[in-house]
Amino acid sequence: MSKNRVKLGVNLDHVATLRQARNTPYPDLMEAIRVSEACGADGITMHLREDRRHIQDKDIYQAREVITTSMNFEMAATSEMQRIAIQVKPEYCCIVPEKREELTTEGGLDVVAHRDRLSNLIAVLQGEDILVSLFVEPNLLIIDAAAEIGASIIEIHTGRYADKHGQQQQHEFERIKDAAKHATEIGLTVNAGHGLHVGNVKPITDIAGMNELNIGHAIVSDSLFLGLEGSIHNMRHAMDGEA
Ligand code: PXP
Repeated sequence: MSKNRVKLGVNLDHVATLRQARNTPYPDLMEAIRVSEACGADGITMHLREDRRHIQDKDIYQAREVITTSMNFEMAATSEMQRIAIQVKPEYCCIVPEKREELTTEGGLDVVAHRDRLSNLIAVLQGEDILVSLFVEPNLLIIDAAAEIGASIIEIHTGRYADKHGQQQQHEFERIKDAAKHATEIGLTVNAGHGLHVGNVKPITDIAGMNELNIGHAIVSDSLFLGLEGSIHNMRHAMDGEA
């Protein structure tokens, strides 16, 4: 059976990180969106953090006008972010933890502890025709809880996989693979991201049922040497096994 092409969501937060370091108008985030889409990004991801350390409110509104693929708005489960999401109407919202108490021990959303708040947020956003994904660890109990409260998509946190080497990395990889299998079996769409780069992306891309990878830091970093276009092409080639 031929495998569907896994989508590449380009996270441009760190273009804004560079801009905010000097509070300059450059680098131009909207130009980064245009270039990313022109060279094959399937979607654009931006995280409006509560502390506004990189993406600013105006970026989100401008990006909505510029993005022609699909917009993935990463946000904490707060009423402020809920209000902005409803105004902006991205195609997707990915709910992420920002505070320690929202985290599981490993780093994804603690869906079990925050079940009621998350279930309410999912219902509100889905009522606005926004698809919602939850950023979770490859943990079957958490994934079951995500499905039970109405999420249709999960994004599996690949941070631990990315941080490890050798056998420990293989162990993390198996957890992600098993989690993706379970999630697809219970009807969830499976995305993944965090810490992925050209050297570690291929096994994750090859996981059965994988829908989309969201990648930011490595793409923006490699763009220093390759340009954004070259960096995105490189990532796409690494995903497709052509690097
Ligand atoms: N997915 C989610 C939910 C994230 O929060 C991040 C980091 O902002 C990413 C993917 C991208 O991670 P990285 O910048 O390490 O590629």
